[in-house]
Amino acid sequence: MRLPLVPAGKKKASYEIRGIVDKGYQLEACGKNVFWENIGDPVQKGMQVPQWMKEIVAAEALSDASYGYCESKGVPKTREFLAARTNAFGGVRITSDDITFFNGLGDAIARVYGMLSPDARVLMPSPTYPAHSGAESSRIGRAPLQYTLDPKRDWLPDPDEVRQLVTDNPDVCAILLINPDNPTGKVFPYSTLAALVQIAREFDLFIICDEIYENLVYEGEMVRLCEVIGDVPAIAMKGISKEFPWPGSRCGWLEYYNRDKDPVFADFCGRIDHGKMTEVCSTTLPQRVIPAIMSHPMYKTWQDDIKAELSRKMSKVRAAFHEIEGFHVSGGGGAFYATVHIDCEFAGSCVPYTALTDGQLNLIRKWLQPGSAQDYKIVYFLLAVHGICVVPLSGFSTPHCGFRFTLLEQDEARFDELLREMKEGLGLWSKHRKLEESVVA
Ligand SMILES: Cc1ncc(COP(=O)(O)O)c(C=O)c1O
Repeated sequence: MRLPLVPAGKKKASYEIRGIVDKGYQLEACGKNVFWENIGDPVQKGMQVPQWMKEIVAAEALSDASYGYCESKGVPKTREFLAARTNAFGGVRITSDDITFFNGLGDAIARVYGMLSPDARVLMPSPTYPAHSGAESSRIGRAPLQYTLDPKRDWLPDPDEVRQLVTDNPDVCAILLINPDNPTGKVFPYSTLAALVQIAREFDLFIICDEIYENLVYEGEMVRLCEVIGDVPAIAMKGISKEFPWPGSRCGWLEYYNRDKDPVFADFCGRIDHGKMTEVCSTTLPQRVIPAIMSHPMYKTWQDDIKAELSRKMSKVRAAFHEIEGFHVSGGGGAFYATVHIDCEFAGSCVPYTALTDGQLNLIRKWLQPGSAQDYKIVYFLLAVHGICVVPLSGFSTPHCGFRFTLLEQDEARFDELLREMKEGLGLWSKHRKLEESVVA
Protein backbone atom coordinates (compact mmCIF):
# COMPACT_ATOMS: atom_id res chain seq x y z
CA MET A 1 0.00 0.00 0.00
CA ARG A 2 1.15 3.53 -0.76
CA LEU A 3 0.05 4.73 2.65
CA PRO A 4 -0.33 3.17 6.08
CA LEU A 5 -3.94 2.08 6.36
CA VAL A 6 -4.21 2.15 10.13
CA PRO A 7 -3.40 5.21 12.25
CA ALA A 8 0.05 4.94 13.85
CA GLY A 9 -0.02 3.45 17.32
CA LYS A 10 -3.63 2.22 17.02
CA LYS A 11 -4.03 -0.83 19.23
CA LYS A 12 -5.96 -3.89 18.07
CA ALA A 13 -9.30 -4.24 19.83
CA SER A 14 -9.24 -7.20 22.18
CA TYR A 15 -12.24 -9.52 22.55
CA GLU A 16 -11.13 -12.38 24.78
CA ILE A 17 -14.60 -13.99 24.68
CA ARG A 18 -13.64 -15.17 21.20
CA GLY A 19 -9.85 -14.77 21.52
CA ILE A 20 -9.65 -17.85 23.76
CA VAL A 21 -11.44 -20.00 21.17
CA ASP A 22 -8.33 -20.70 19.05
CA LYS A 23 -6.67 -22.25 22.06
CA GLY A 24 -9.72 -24.41 22.69
CA TYR A 25 -9.53 -25.61 19.07
CA GLN A 26 -5.89 -26.57 19.58
CA LEU A 27 -6.97 -28.81 22.42
CA GLU A 28 -9.85 -30.29 20.46
CA ALA A 29 -7.41 -31.08 17.67
CA CYS A 30 -5.50 -33.19 20.24
CA GLY A 31 -8.71 -35.10 20.97
CA LYS A 32 -9.71 -33.29 24.19
CA ASN A 33 -13.41 -32.77 24.83
CA VAL A 34 -13.69 -29.04 25.57
CA PHE A 35 -16.28 -27.41 27.85
CA TRP A 36 -17.08 -24.27 25.83
CA GLU A 37 -18.06 -21.83 28.56
CA ASN A 38 -16.72 -18.65 27.03
CA ILE A 39 -19.54 -17.21 24.99
CA GLY A 40 -23.12 -16.22 25.87
CA ASP A 41 -24.86 -17.99 23.01
CA PRO A 42 -27.65 -20.21 24.37
CA VAL A 43 -28.28 -21.76 20.95
CA GLN A 44 -24.66 -22.81 20.55
CA LYS A 45 -24.95 -24.43 23.99
CA GLY A 46 -27.87 -26.53 22.80
CA MET A 47 -30.90 -24.53 23.95
CA GLN A 48 -33.86 -25.58 21.81
CA VAL A 49 -35.69 -22.62 20.31
CA PRO A 50 -39.37 -23.44 21.02
CA GLN A 51 -41.48 -24.74 18.16
CA TRP A 52 -44.09 -21.95 18.45
CA MET A 53 -41.34 -19.36 18.02
CA LYS A 54 -39.91 -21.11 14.98
CA GLU A 55 -43.42 -21.27 13.48
CA ILE A 56 -43.85 -17.50 13.85
CA VAL A 57 -40.49 -16.91 12.16
CA ALA A 58 -41.25 -19.49 9.45
CA ALA A 59 -44.64 -17.90 8.67
CA GLU A 60 -43.03 -14.47 8.40
CA ALA A 61 -40.35 -15.88 6.11
CA LEU A 62 -43.15 -16.73 3.65
CA SER A 63 -44.06 -13.05 3.36
CA ASP A 64 -42.32 -11.11 0.56
CA ALA A 65 -42.13 -8.02 2.76
CA SER A 66 -39.61 -9.83 4.99
CA TYR A 67 -37.14 -9.83 2.11
CA GLY A 68 -37.20 -6.08 1.47
CA TYR A 69 -35.55 -3.14 3.14
CA CYS A 70 -37.58 -1.65 5.95
CA GLU A 71 -37.70 1.95 7.24
CA SER A 72 -34.30 3.27 8.31
CA LYS A 73 -35.27 3.44 11.97
CA GLY A 74 -36.96 0.05 11.79
CA VAL A 75 -40.38 -1.50 11.23
CA PRO A 76 -42.94 1.08 12.51
CA LYS A 77 -45.39 -1.45 14.01
CA THR A 78 -42.61 -3.09 16.00
CA ARG A 79 -41.33 0.25 17.26
CA GLU A 80 -44.87 1.15 18.33
CA PHE A 81 -45.19 -2.19 20.11
CA LEU A 82 -41.87 -1.72 21.94
CA ALA A 83 -42.63 1.89 22.88
CA ALA A 84 -45.92 0.72 24.43
CA ARG A 85 -44.04 -1.96 26.40
CA THR A 86 -41.66 0.63 27.82
CA ASN A 87 -44.48 3.05 28.60
CA ALA A 88 -46.29 0.28 30.51
CA PHE A 89 -43.59 0.54 33.21
CA GLY A 90 -45.07 3.90 34.11
CA GLY A 91 -41.86 5.96 34.03
CA VAL A 92 -40.59 8.00 31.12
CA ARG A 93 -42.91 8.11 28.09
CA ILE A 94 -41.66 7.45 24.58
CA THR A 95 -43.10 7.10 21.09
CA SER A 96 -42.06 4.85 18.22
CA ASP A 97 -39.90 7.74 17.01
CA ASP A 98 -37.68 7.30 20.09
CA ILE A 99 -36.68 3.79 18.96
CA THR A 100 -34.10 2.88 16.32
CA PHE A 101 -33.09 -0.60 15.21
CA PHE A 102 -29.54 -1.82 14.48
CA ASN A 103 -27.92 -5.00 13.22
CA GLY A 104 -27.52 -6.40 16.71
CA LEU A 105 -26.86 -4.41 19.86
CA GLY A 106 -23.13 -4.70 19.19
CA ASP A 107 -23.71 -2.59 16.07
CA ALA A 108 -25.74 -0.04 18.05
CA ILE A 109 -22.99 0.22 20.68
CA ALA A 110 -20.40 0.94 17.99
CA ARG A 111 -22.65 3.67 16.49
CA VAL A 112 -23.28 5.41 19.81
CA TYR A 113 -19.62 5.62 20.82
CA GLY A 114 -18.53 6.35 17.25
CA MET A 115 -20.82 9.40 17.06
CA LEU A 116 -19.42 11.04 20.20
CA SER A 117 -16.84 13.77 20.00
CA PRO A 118 -13.26 12.46 20.47
CA ASP A 119 -12.95 14.98 23.29
CA ALA A 120 -15.82 13.50 25.31
CA ARG A 121 -15.59 10.42 27.49
CA VAL A 122 -18.06 7.86 28.73
CA LEU A 123 -17.47 6.79 32.33
CA MET A 124 -17.93 3.04 32.42
CA PRO A 125 -17.83 0.18 34.92
CA SER A 126 -14.80 -1.98 35.61
CA PRO A 127 -15.19 -4.80 34.67
CA THR A 128 -17.19 -4.02 31.57
CA TYR A 129 -18.46 -5.82 28.47
CA PRO A 130 -15.69 -5.39 25.83
CA ALA A 131 -17.96 -3.99 23.08
CA HIS A 132 -18.35 -0.87 25.26
CA SER A 133 -14.75 -0.53 26.43
CA GLY A 134 -13.42 -1.40 22.94
CA ALA A 135 -15.60 1.18 21.18
CA GLU A 136 -14.67 3.82 23.74
CA SER A 137 -10.91 3.21 23.69
CA SER A 138 -10.87 2.99 19.92
CA ARG A 139 -12.50 6.45 19.74
CA ILE A 140 -10.47 8.23 22.43
CA GLY A 141 -7.20 6.44 21.69
CA ARG A 142 -6.54 5.44 25.30
CA ALA A 143 -7.97 3.32 28.08
CA PRO A 144 -11.53 4.18 29.10
CA LEU A 145 -12.24 6.00 32.33
CA GLN A 146 -13.85 3.53 34.72
CA TYR A 147 -15.59 3.29 38.06
CA THR A 148 -15.19 0.20 40.20
CA LEU A 149 -17.66 -2.61 40.54
CA ASP A 150 -16.45 -3.95 43.85
CA PRO A 151 -16.36 -7.74 44.25
CA LYS A 152 -16.33 -7.26 48.03
CA ARG A 153 -19.63 -5.35 47.78
CA ASP A 154 -21.23 -7.99 45.57
CA TRP A 155 -20.06 -5.98 42.53
CA LEU A 156 -21.99 -2.85 43.50
CA PRO A 157 -20.48 0.49 42.48
CA ASP A 158 -19.85 3.27 44.97
CA PRO A 159 -21.78 6.39 43.87
CA ASP A 160 -19.26 8.57 45.76
CA GLU A 161 -16.47 7.24 43.52
CA VAL A 162 -18.61 7.91 40.43
CA ARG A 163 -19.28 11.45 41.62
CA GLN A 164 -15.59 12.05 42.29
CA LEU A 165 -14.59 10.76 38.84
CA VAL A 166 -17.19 12.97 37.16
CA THR A 167 -15.99 15.96 39.20
CA ASP A 168 -12.32 15.34 38.41
CA ASN A 169 -12.90 14.69 34.69
CA PRO A 170 -14.87 17.49 33.06
CA ASP A 171 -14.66 15.66 29.72
CA VAL A 172 -17.10 12.98 30.95
CA CYS A 173 -20.38 13.35 29.05
CA ALA A 174 -22.14 10.09 29.97
CA ILE A 175 -22.21 7.25 32.50
CA LEU A 176 -22.63 3.66 31.35
CA LEU A 177 -24.37 0.97 33.35
CA ILE A 178 -24.98 -2.61 32.21
CA ASN A 179 -28.02 -4.02 33.99
CA PRO A 180 -28.14 -6.97 34.52
CA ASP A 181 -24.42 -6.81 34.28
CA ASN A 182 -22.06 -8.69 32.03
CA PRO A 183 -19.76 -10.23 33.27
CA THR A 184 -20.88 -10.20 36.94
CA GLY A 185 -24.59 -10.98 36.47
CA LYS A 186 -25.34 -8.31 39.10
CA VAL A 187 -28.84 -6.84 39.02
CA PHE A 188 -28.57 -3.29 40.30
CA PRO A 189 -31.06 -2.07 42.91
CA TYR A 190 -33.21 1.00 42.52
CA SER A 191 -30.92 2.98 44.86
CA THR A 192 -27.86 2.44 42.63
CA LEU A 193 -29.71 3.46 39.49
CA ALA A 194 -31.24 6.47 41.21
CA ALA A 195 -27.83 7.58 42.54
CA LEU A 196 -26.22 7.44 39.08
CA VAL A 197 -29.19 9.23 37.49
CA GLN A 198 -28.91 11.96 40.15
CA ILE A 199 -25.20 12.44 39.34
CA ALA A 200 -26.05 12.69 35.64
CA ARG A 201 -28.73 15.28 36.45
CA GLU A 202 -26.39 17.40 38.58
CA PHE A 203 -23.50 17.35 36.11
CA ASP A 204 -25.58 17.65 32.93
CA LEU A 205 -24.62 14.22 31.57
CA PHE A 206 -26.63 11.49 29.89
CA ILE A 207 -26.98 7.86 30.95
CA ILE A 208 -26.35 4.82 28.77
CA CYS A 209 -27.92 1.65 30.13
CA ASP A 210 -27.34 -1.66 28.38
CA GLU A 211 -30.40 -3.78 29.24
CA ILE A 212 -29.94 -6.66 26.83
CA TYR A 213 -30.50 -9.10 29.74
CA GLU A 214 -33.54 -7.21 31.16
CA ASN A 215 -35.84 -10.24 30.91
CA LEU A 216 -33.33 -12.73 32.31
CA VAL A 217 -33.47 -11.77 35.98
CA TYR A 218 -33.78 -14.88 38.16
CA GLU A 219 -33.14 -13.29 41.59
CA GLY A 220 -34.28 -9.94 42.90
CA GLU A 221 -36.15 -7.35 40.92
CA MET A 222 -35.28 -5.81 37.59
CA VAL A 223 -35.53 -2.03 37.73
CA ARG A 224 -35.41 -0.58 34.24
CA LEU A 225 -33.81 2.73 33.41
CA CYS A 226 -37.15 4.00 32.07
CA GLU A 227 -38.55 3.70 35.62
CA VAL A 228 -35.94 5.90 37.32
CA ILE A 229 -34.65 8.24 34.64
CA GLY A 230 -37.13 11.07 35.31
CA ASP A 231 -36.17 14.03 33.14
CA VAL A 232 -32.52 13.08 32.49
CA PRO A 233 -31.49 12.34 28.89
CA ALA A 234 -30.60 8.70 28.34
CA ILE A 235 -30.22 5.81 25.94
CA ALA A 236 -31.44 2.33 26.85
CA MET A 237 -29.93 -0.48 24.78
CA LYS A 238 -31.92 -3.64 24.10
CA GLY A 239 -32.06 -6.68 21.85
CA ILE A 240 -33.34 -10.20 21.23
CA SER A 241 -30.02 -12.08 21.07
CA LYS A 242 -30.24 -13.34 24.63
CA GLU A 243 -33.88 -13.55 25.56
CA PHE A 244 -35.52 -15.19 22.53
CA PRO A 245 -32.69 -16.40 22.14
CA TRP A 246 -31.74 -15.43 18.60
CA PRO A 247 -28.19 -14.03 18.53
CA GLY A 248 -27.89 -14.86 14.83
CA SER A 249 -30.77 -12.48 14.03
CA ARG A 250 -28.42 -9.49 14.52
CA CYS A 251 -31.23 -7.40 15.87
CA GLY A 252 -31.03 -4.83 18.65
CA TRP A 253 -32.37 -1.35 19.28
CA LEU A 254 -31.85 1.93 21.11
CA GLU A 255 -34.50 3.74 23.10
CA TYR A 256 -33.90 7.46 23.46
CA TYR A 257 -35.30 9.02 26.66
CA ASN A 258 -35.91 12.75 27.17
CA ARG A 259 -34.63 14.02 23.86
CA ASP A 260 -36.98 16.96 24.27
CA LYS A 261 -35.17 18.02 27.45
CA ASP A 262 -31.82 18.78 25.83
CA PRO A 263 -31.15 20.04 22.28
CA VAL A 264 -27.51 18.86 22.33
CA PHE A 265 -28.60 15.34 23.24
CA ALA A 266 -31.42 15.48 20.68
CA ASP A 267 -28.93 16.47 17.98
CA PHE A 268 -26.61 13.59 18.99
CA CYS A 269 -29.44 11.02 18.73
CA GLY A 270 -30.58 12.55 15.44
CA ARG A 271 -27.11 12.06 14.00
CA ILE A 272 -27.06 8.40 15.09
CA ASP A 273 -30.36 7.96 13.24
CA HIS A 274 -29.03 9.81 10.23
CA GLY A 275 -26.04 7.43 10.15
CA LYS A 276 -28.51 4.54 10.03
CA MET A 277 -30.22 6.18 7.05
CA THR A 278 -26.98 6.19 5.07
CA GLU A 279 -26.86 2.40 5.58
CA VAL A 280 -30.52 2.10 4.52
CA CYS A 281 -31.84 -0.05 7.39
CA SER A 282 -31.26 -3.02 9.71
CA THR A 283 -32.32 -6.67 9.35
CA THR A 284 -36.03 -6.75 8.50
CA LEU A 285 -37.29 -10.27 9.30
CA PRO A 286 -36.44 -10.42 13.03
CA GLN A 287 -38.01 -7.00 13.58
CA ARG A 288 -41.24 -8.17 11.96
CA VAL A 289 -41.66 -11.12 14.35
CA ILE A 290 -40.94 -9.32 17.63
CA PRO A 291 -44.56 -8.33 18.46
CA ALA A 292 -45.96 -11.79 17.71
CA ILE A 293 -43.26 -13.53 19.75
CA MET A 294 -43.31 -11.17 22.73
CA SER A 295 -47.09 -11.25 22.99
CA HIS A 296 -47.44 -15.01 22.47
CA PRO A 297 -49.20 -16.75 25.41
CA MET A 298 -46.18 -19.07 25.84
CA TYR A 299 -43.58 -16.30 25.96
CA LYS A 300 -43.74 -15.66 29.69
CA THR A 301 -43.73 -19.35 30.56
CA TRP A 302 -40.76 -19.87 28.25
CA GLN A 303 -38.81 -17.12 29.98
CA ASP A 304 -39.85 -18.28 33.45
CA ASP A 305 -38.52 -21.76 32.64
CA ILE A 306 -35.18 -20.35 31.48
CA LYS A 307 -34.90 -18.21 34.61
CA ALA A 308 -35.73 -21.15 36.91
CA GLU A 309 -33.00 -23.17 35.21
CA LEU A 310 -30.46 -20.34 35.59
CA SER A 311 -31.33 -19.95 39.25
CA ARG A 312 -30.82 -23.68 39.87
CA LYS A 313 -27.46 -23.65 38.10
CA MET A 314 -26.27 -20.57 39.96
CA SER A 315 -27.14 -22.26 43.28
CA LYS A 316 -25.01 -25.22 42.24
CA VAL A 317 -22.14 -22.90 41.31
CA ARG A 318 -22.33 -21.09 44.64
CA ALA A 319 -22.37 -24.38 46.54
CA ALA A 320 -19.39 -25.69 44.57
CA PHE A 321 -17.29 -22.55 45.03
CA HIS A 322 -18.11 -22.31 48.71
CA GLU A 323 -15.79 -25.27 49.14
CA ILE A 324 -12.80 -23.96 47.16
CA GLU A 325 -10.42 -21.75 49.08
CA GLY A 326 -9.32 -18.55 47.36
CA PHE A 327 -12.05 -18.49 44.70
CA HIS A 328 -15.11 -16.33 45.27
CA VAL A 329 -18.37 -16.21 43.37
CA SER A 330 -20.45 -13.11 44.04
CA GLY A 331 -22.93 -11.22 41.89
CA GLY A 332 -25.35 -13.21 39.80
CA GLY A 333 -29.12 -12.77 39.80
CA GLY A 334 -29.42 -11.87 36.13
CA ALA A 335 -27.93 -12.71 32.73
CA PHE A 336 -26.34 -16.13 32.33
CA TYR A 337 -22.83 -15.87 33.67
CA ALA A 338 -20.97 -16.71 36.87
CA THR A 339 -17.94 -14.62 37.65
CA VAL A 340 -15.20 -16.03 39.85
CA HIS A 341 -13.07 -13.45 41.59
CA ILE A 342 -9.53 -14.31 42.69
CA ASP A 343 -6.84 -12.36 44.42
CA CYS A 344 -4.44 -11.43 41.58
CA GLU A 345 -1.34 -12.69 43.31
CA PHE A 346 -3.05 -16.02 43.91
CA ALA A 347 -4.21 -16.21 40.27
CA GLY A 348 -0.69 -15.54 39.05
CA SER A 349 0.99 -17.96 41.44
CA CYS A 350 2.93 -20.87 40.07
CA VAL A 351 1.10 -23.49 38.03
CA PRO A 352 0.93 -26.75 40.05
CA TYR A 353 3.47 -28.23 37.66
CA THR A 354 4.13 -31.48 39.51
CA ALA A 355 0.58 -32.60 38.75
CA LEU A 356 0.77 -31.82 35.01
CA THR A 357 2.10 -33.68 32.01
CA ASP A 358 4.89 -32.13 29.95
CA GLY A 359 2.40 -31.58 27.12
CA GLN A 360 0.02 -29.62 29.36
CA LEU A 361 2.83 -27.51 30.79
CA ASN A 362 4.23 -26.77 27.34
CA LEU A 363 0.82 -25.61 26.12
CA ILE A 364 0.43 -23.22 29.06
CA ARG A 365 3.96 -21.89 28.52
CA LYS A 366 3.31 -21.44 24.80
CA TRP A 367 0.05 -19.57 25.36
CA LEU A 368 1.28 -17.23 28.10
CA GLN A 369 2.60 -14.00 26.64
CA PRO A 370 5.02 -11.67 28.38
CA GLY A 371 2.82 -9.11 30.09
CA SER A 372 -0.29 -11.35 30.17
CA ALA A 373 -2.55 -10.36 33.09
CA GLN A 374 -2.21 -12.63 36.13
CA ASP A 375 -5.52 -14.41 35.58
CA TYR A 376 -4.44 -15.84 32.20
CA LYS A 377 -2.31 -18.37 34.04
CA ILE A 378 -5.26 -19.92 35.79
CA VAL A 379 -7.50 -19.66 32.72
CA TYR A 380 -4.92 -21.46 30.55
CA PHE A 381 -4.43 -24.02 33.31
CA LEU A 382 -8.18 -24.76 33.32
CA LEU A 383 -8.14 -25.10 29.55
CA ALA A 384 -4.97 -27.11 29.07
CA VAL A 385 -5.54 -29.51 31.96
CA HIS A 386 -9.31 -29.71 32.33
CA GLY A 387 -10.51 -28.66 28.90
CA ILE A 388 -12.57 -25.81 30.40
CA CYS A 389 -12.72 -22.76 28.17
CA VAL A 390 -13.56 -19.61 30.18
CA VAL A 391 -12.81 -15.90 29.77
CA PRO A 392 -10.23 -14.16 31.99
CA LEU A 393 -11.80 -11.34 33.96
CA SER A 394 -8.97 -9.06 32.80
CA GLY A 395 -10.49 -9.47 29.31
CA PHE A 396 -13.32 -7.25 30.59
CA SER A 397 -11.07 -4.22 30.87
CA THR A 398 -10.42 -4.49 34.60
CA PRO A 399 -7.49 -4.91 36.99
CA HIS A 400 -9.58 -7.47 38.92
CA CYS A 401 -8.51 -11.09 38.41
CA GLY A 402 -10.72 -14.08 37.89
CA PHE A 403 -12.78 -15.57 35.12
CA ARG A 404 -16.30 -15.70 33.72
CA PHE A 405 -18.11 -18.82 32.64
CA THR A 406 -21.61 -19.38 31.32
CA LEU A 407 -24.58 -21.07 32.98
CA LEU A 408 -25.81 -22.24 29.60
CA GLU A 409 -24.89 -25.91 29.45
CA GLN A 410 -28.17 -27.64 28.60
CA ASP A 411 -27.11 -31.13 29.59
CA GLU A 412 -27.47 -31.31 33.36
CA ALA A 413 -24.98 -34.16 33.75
CA ARG A 414 -22.41 -32.26 31.70
CA PHE A 415 -22.93 -29.11 33.80
CA ASP A 416 -22.32 -31.15 36.96
CA GLU A 417 -19.22 -32.62 35.33
CA LEU A 418 -18.01 -29.11 34.52
CA LEU A 419 -18.34 -28.06 38.15
CA ARG A 420 -16.61 -31.23 39.33
CA GLU A 421 -13.69 -30.62 36.95
CA MET A 422 -13.46 -26.99 38.04
CA LYS A 423 -13.47 -27.96 41.69
CA GLU A 424 -10.77 -30.50 41.09
CA GLY A 425 -8.53 -28.12 39.13
CA LEU A 426 -9.00 -25.12 41.36
CA GLY A 427 -8.71 -27.27 44.47
CA LEU A 428 -5.34 -28.45 43.19
CA TRP A 429 -4.31 -24.84 42.60
CA SER A 430 -5.27 -23.94 46.21
CA LYS A 431 -3.42 -26.93 47.63
CA HIS A 432 -0.33 -26.19 45.60
CA ARG A 433 -0.38 -22.56 46.65
CA LYS A 434 -0.57 -23.55 50.33
CA LEU A 435 2.36 -25.89 49.85
CA GLU A 436 4.38 -23.11 48.25
CA GLU A 437 3.55 -20.78 51.11
CA SER A 438 4.60 -23.34 53.71
CA VAL A 439 7.93 -23.82 51.88
CA VAL A 440 8.54 -20.05 51.83
CA ALA A 441 7.58 -19.77 55.52
C1 LIG B 1 -24.01 -6.61 27.71
C2 LIG B 1 -24.11 -6.92 26.26
N1 LIG B 1 -24.43 -5.94 25.40
C3 LIG B 1 -24.51 -6.15 24.08
C4 LIG B 1 -24.26 -7.40 23.54
C5 LIG B 1 -24.33 -7.57 22.05
O1 LIG B 1 -25.50 -8.22 21.69
P1 LIG B 1 -25.90 -8.48 20.16
O2 LIG B 1 -25.85 -9.95 19.96
O3 LIG B 1 -27.28 -7.92 20.02
O4 LIG B 1 -24.92 -7.74 19.30
C6 LIG B 1 -23.93 -8.46 24.40
C7 LIG B 1 -23.61 -9.78 23.85
O5 LIG B 1 -23.10 -10.67 24.51
C8 LIG B 1 -23.84 -8.21 25.79
O6 LIG B 1 -23.51 -9.18 26.64
